[in-house]
Amino acid sequence: MSTLATTIAGRRFSTCLMNAAGIRCQSARDLDALVASAAGTYVTKSATPNKRPGNPEPRMTTLPHGSFNSMGLPNNGLAYYLDYVLADQIKRPTATQFLSIAGTSLEDNLAMLHEIQASEYRGFVELNLSCPNVPGHPQTGYDFEQTAKTLDAVFAFYDKPLGVKLPPYFDLAHFDAIAAVLNQYPLTFVTTINSVGNGLVVNAETETVAIRPKGGFGGIGGASVKPTALANVRALSQRLKPEIAVVGVGGILNGRDAFEHILCGASMLQIGTQFGYEGTAVFKRIAQELDSIMALKGYNTIADFRGKLKTLD
Ligand code: DHB
Repeated sequence: MSTLATTIAGRRFSTCLMNAAGIRCQSARDLDALVASAAGTYVTKSATPNKRPGNPEPRMTTLPHGSFNSMGLPNNGLAYYLDYVLADQIKRPTATQFLSIAGTSLEDNLAMLHEIQASEYRGFVELNLSCPNVPGHPQTGYDFEQTAKTLDAVFAFYDKPLGVKLPPYFDLAHFDAIAAVLNQYPLTFVTTINSVGNGLVVNAETETVAIRPKGGFGGIGGASVKPTALANVRALSQRLKPEIAVVGVGGILNGRDAFEHILCGASMLQIGTQFGYEGTAVFKRIAQELDSIMALKGYNTIADFRGKLKTLD
């Protein structure tokens, strides 16, 4: 019998598939649906200290091979998500949740982490260093010094399991640089990639941009970003110390995409765009497809092939 189970920092997940932050995880109803689904766990919509309405609409559109958005962090505020995961922790004492936070300043992130540190929360925090959609706030993950400064301040007091959500990198020198920073900290995981930021979708008919915020600039997700995602999963897996698990996200539409992410080194897989299009049924379908591929290849666990991608010489 094969299994899709995975373990990160000693926490076991019955399957290595979950949602990606942002998609269908903003309300308690969304999160209840994830808990009831075949996903191995869930991550909550990135929280800010207070509730935010997000950017003006239209702020999201479909693409032939993906999705495009500039949501601008609409969310119900940290207290809402912390209440949700604390209640879930009581209902399901052996589950490990991912609580995503995305302050628009270091001070906001530290204030939220102080609150989480002081609470009974035992799950993971996914600290989002890569939201591309808030006007005037650059992505921390593209500023290596600011990333180090952030993690210095975080780990000065925060001692529960924490990982970071990273933007995609496109240069081997940048993989080296971000890994050198991250390896200095007791991170539990890195999640890679966030959307490919600040693309532009043009409507030739109306001769306008497709979404209202930021003059039409927005983050690209879905099938189009898979090669970038695989490169980031692979490059970071090769460079990070083994205690830091890699959570792969980007362009997972089927079991084969999931298999490829694991070959590149992912211990957990997040599904964003396709979960948006398909709903919670996506987790069972991709699990079955991944399971079939593993059976054909004679793999019993994801550890049998994780990170074992071969090069041609
Ligand atoms: C949003 C988008 C992101 O890619 C992210 O990491 C956080 C928030 C958003 O626009 O809401």
